[in-house]
Amino acid sequence: MNTFNKATSLLLIISSLFYIQKMSLAMDTITTTQIIKDGDTIVSSGGSFELGFLSPGDSKNRYVGIWYKKITVKTAVWIANRQIPLKNISSGILKVVKPGILVLLNETNGIIWSTNTSVSVRNPVAQLLDSGNLVIKEASDNNPKNYVWQSFDYPTDTLLAGMKLGWNFVNHLEVYLSSWKNNDDPASGDFTYHCDPTGYPQDVLRKGGVKQYTTGPWTGLTFSGLPSLRTNQIFKFGLVMNKNEVYFHYDLLNSSIISRVTLNQSGVAQRLTWSDQAQSWVVYFTAPSDNCDLYYNLCGAYGVCSMALCKCLNKFVPKDRESWDRGDWSSGCVRRTSLDCEKGDNVFLKYSGIKLPDAEHSWYNQSVMNLEECKMLCLKNCSCTAYTNINASAGGHTCLLWFGDLVDIKELSAREQDIYIRMSSSELDSRGSKRKILIVSLSLVMGIALVGLSLMVCAQKRRKIRLLRRSQGEQRLGIANNHEDESQKKELELPLFDLYTISKATDNFSNNKKIGEGGFGPVYKGQLEGGQEIAVKRLSRTSLQGIDEFKNEVICVAKLQHRNLVKLLGCCIQGQEYLLIYEYMPNKSLDLILFNPAKSTFLDWPRRFHIINGIARGLLYLHEDSRLRIIHRDLKASNVLLDSDMNPKISDFGLARSFGGNETGANTSRVVGTYGYMSPEYAVDGVFSVKSDVFSFGVLVLEIVSGKRNRGFSHRDHDLNLLGHAWMLHKEGRALELVDSYGGKSSYLSQVLRSIHICLLCVQQYPEDRPSMSSVVFMLANEGVLPQAKKPGFFTERDVLESRTSGGTSTPSSTNEMSITLLEAR
Ligand SMILES: *[C@@H]1O[C@H](CO)[C@@H](O)[C@H](O)[C@H]1NC(C)=O
Ligand SMILES: *[C@@H]1O[C@H](CO)[C@@H](O)[C@H](O)[C@H]1NC(C)=O
Ligand SMILES: *[C@@H]1O[C@H](CO)[C@@H](O)[C@H](O)[C@H]1NC(C)=O
Ligand SMILES: *[C@@H]1O[C@H](CO)[C@@H](O)[C@H](O)[C@H]1NC(C)=O
Ligand SMILES: *[C@@H]1O[C@H](CO)[C@@H](O)[C@H](O)[C@H]1NC(C)=O
Ligand SMILES: *[C@@H]1O[C@H](CO)[C@@H](O)[C@H](O)[C@H]1NC(C)=O
Ligand SMILES: *[C@@H]1O[C@H](CO)[C@@H](O)[C@H](O)[C@H]1NC(C)=O
Ligand SMILES: *[C@@H]1O[C@H](CO)[C@@H](O)[C@H](O)[C@H]1NC(C)=O
Repeated sequence: MNTFNKATSLLLIISSLFYIQKMSLAMDTITTTQIIKDGDTIVSSGGSFELGFLSPGDSKNRYVGIWYKKITVKTAVWIANRQIPLKNISSGILKVVKPGILVLLNETNGIIWSTNTSVSVRNPVAQLLDSGNLVIKEASDNNPKNYVWQSFDYPTDTLLAGMKLGWNFVNHLEVYLSSWKNNDDPASGDFTYHCDPTGYPQDVLRKGGVKQYTTGPWTGLTFSGLPSLRTNQIFKFGLVMNKNEVYFHYDLLNSSIISRVTLNQSGVAQRLTWSDQAQSWVVYFTAPSDNCDLYYNLCGAYGVCSMALCKCLNKFVPKDRESWDRGDWSSGCVRRTSLDCEKGDNVFLKYSGIKLPDAEHSWYNQSVMNLEECKMLCLKNCSCTAYTNINASAGGHTCLLWFGDLVDIKELSAREQDIYIRMSSSELDSRGSKRKILIVSLSLVMGIALVGLSLMVCAQKRRKIRLLRRSQGEQRLGIANNHEDESQKKELELPLFDLYTISKATDNFSNNKKIGEGGFGPVYKGQLEGGQEIAVKRLSRTSLQGIDEFKNEVICVAKLQHRNLVKLLGCCIQGQEYLLIYEYMPNKSLDLILFNPAKSTFLDWPRRFHIINGIARGLLYLHEDSRLRIIHRDLKASNVLLDSDMNPKISDFGLARSFGGNETGANTSRVVGTYGYMSPEYAVDGVFSVKSDVFSFGVLVLEIVSGKRNRGFSHRDHDLNLLGHAWMLHKEGRALELVDSYGGKSSYLSQVLRSIHICLLCVQQYPEDRPSMSSVVFMLANEGVLPQAKKPGFFTERDVLESRTSGGTSTPSSTNEMSITLLEAR
């Protein structure tokens, strides 16, 4: 026996001894006749949680805590003696004493920590329930109402399913989370997370007792400021409100999922879900969730935060124009037409797509009330500034009124809960007057242009702009998702086009010039004075969420130069207009040719192979060769444009995320993409990486080879999608049956088969099995033997539809492809 073997067998013996010792204590209850020493544990009946002594992080101190039993990474969900650690290893003793107290003693029998009770029981026991709740109760009494004490009433930084975050007015107990000091010290840190029932219930994050962030009031299915919480497959959140208690709670939809909410040391409440595959916790959701959330009431009263920049609500103006323009938004906004409530000169105007104001100064009446009744209630009292009618989960409608200024508003990406704000009645017919203003300003622009043609020429010349004007704003914004160094961050230089120029080039955005509808608005064809043809993407004003994507796209695309990427010529940001100007692609997008039987015959195999190769190189450049690492996230046939020589160019980086350094992936709170092209890990878990693009590329290759769409594909013999169909044919050696009518010539057959094989490698279920784009480019260009492909992800179309419901954004049977944005809880 060599030393290694000796060591292992010794280890085995020791660990089996340990096991036996553990086994003897593998129960869920501590009675008054037992003690728990350092090293002993108790385990809940279902084996989910374990209680014992632990040392978090690198700490040498000992704590009594509860952790997950079933996972490999020891994760404490509760700490008993978080403020006072045991200094000495294996010196602590935990026991239950009458009249119903659990105490932790040190080696000199000093009390380190204990529970307290106002009632006494005859035969107290401490029991660790499978929910992770440690309860003290009369041994024979299992009624939760009669628990003497429970750890769920005194959480540390973790909210488990079944806990009540909120207030019990009967025993004046508040259950809230408080962060750890650091990874090694579970003592209470700076941050606390509460359910605040002062007005209408909402969650509030405080730092040192000062409000840092609010979720916005509960609107029946989610918090107003966290609309994405509503659609998820993991948990169901709820609010319970009665005269005795107000609390939020959640239940896991599938008890085999391991998921928790914690307040981490930087003050981020996050939902983490255990991934068996990754053997780690995956962040599923965070609050604060975006840059606006990082600053409580950043924009002052009636100000709206949008990407950490402020604007006033419609029909409001900055209260102090000078400081507002400096970027000090704290003074907020005021009605542009002031209001004389006493005279009855007022109306309520509807505002949509915003997070409801901080509900601290709100009042509600829970009796069922319709919108009109709610309005009458608000109208009665001049200090009532706004009202809304919340569809409370009980089914009835709760009327919610705000008193005083409305603060902490932010822009949302969808309509969500409307709010009605008291305004001067002269604002009612303002739609007409707004148009007048627009016409006046347009004619002003024209006038200026006519007076000085030279001005126009100047404007058409390349001017440098700073996209993000305010330096503070820029700092805070950190340019969306770029993790770049300061030098890259400092300025975005991009040719600027004048709105007038573009408007002229596109016949004032006439419908005849419209050549498509992109993810965030229409695309127009235009012609500049010099004759150059351009494509203009116009951010649709109805889709507020586009601004995010717009800025992202500008920043990304401006930095990228590659033969297989569409070239951005410049942009235009003027007033409400956000435009992108691209080189025009005469052959439009690939899907228009590929899926059109009349046109697709034009695409013979060499052309198709040329397109496949071009897309692969473009993607490789994005993933590996560009200075930034870009993940496209929405690669599909309609995002591949063809120039006059049928060279493919990848377009639409609106959804791209850029990464500096060696980050290769991330989690996203918004799953954006197109069904049929989305990889399983992205569509289901929101985890994206370069390998998600590889998946989409594989789907695209298959579509190019077969001339059929993956989504909407149907076959009379089975209900597999195109991927499943290809996989089946490939396994049976019949892959050539996939090939569109072009492929008769036998000289290309091996290349066609090879492309199908590479495609199947790209769409394998697990990201780690898929090749990188550099391997793909290599495999396309060379002859060597290819690895075996494993089963593809999303075999059938139903896979993806079953894994999530998308709130009506998709119609399963439709072959009509559209970029969709799923708001995803995380
Ligand atoms: C830890 O225990 C040892 C021996 O049991 C004792 O000598 C020492 O003083 C203890 N340390 C503390 C900090 O209590
Ligand atoms: C045990 O705890 C008591 C009470 O907290 C304390 O006074 C005493 O110093 C502790 N003993 C040791 C050895 O740490
Ligand atoms: C138990 O202790 C906590 C914290 O020290 C205190 O807030 C609570 O009122 C006590 N409860 C009883 C029943 O004594
Ligand atoms: C719960 O999740 C497990 C593992 O993810 C899965 O096998 C099971 O089918 C799920 N159960 C339900 C009811 O969804
Ligand atoms: C807290 O969570 C956020 C979001 O997941 C993360 O960015 C941050 O690094 C975390 N802080 C610590 C100290 O772990
Ligand atoms: C709530 O509204 C109902 C119906 O309008 C009314 O009868 C009741 O008095 C109101 N409750 C309060 C507390 O104002
Ligand atoms: C209006 O509402 C405020 C705040 O709730 C209250 O203090 C005031 O008494 C009310 N005034 C009238 C006339 O009801
Ligand atoms: C109110 O919410 C319930 C579910 O809580 C839903 O079924 C109902 O359609 C909603 N009603 C309205 C008018 O939104």
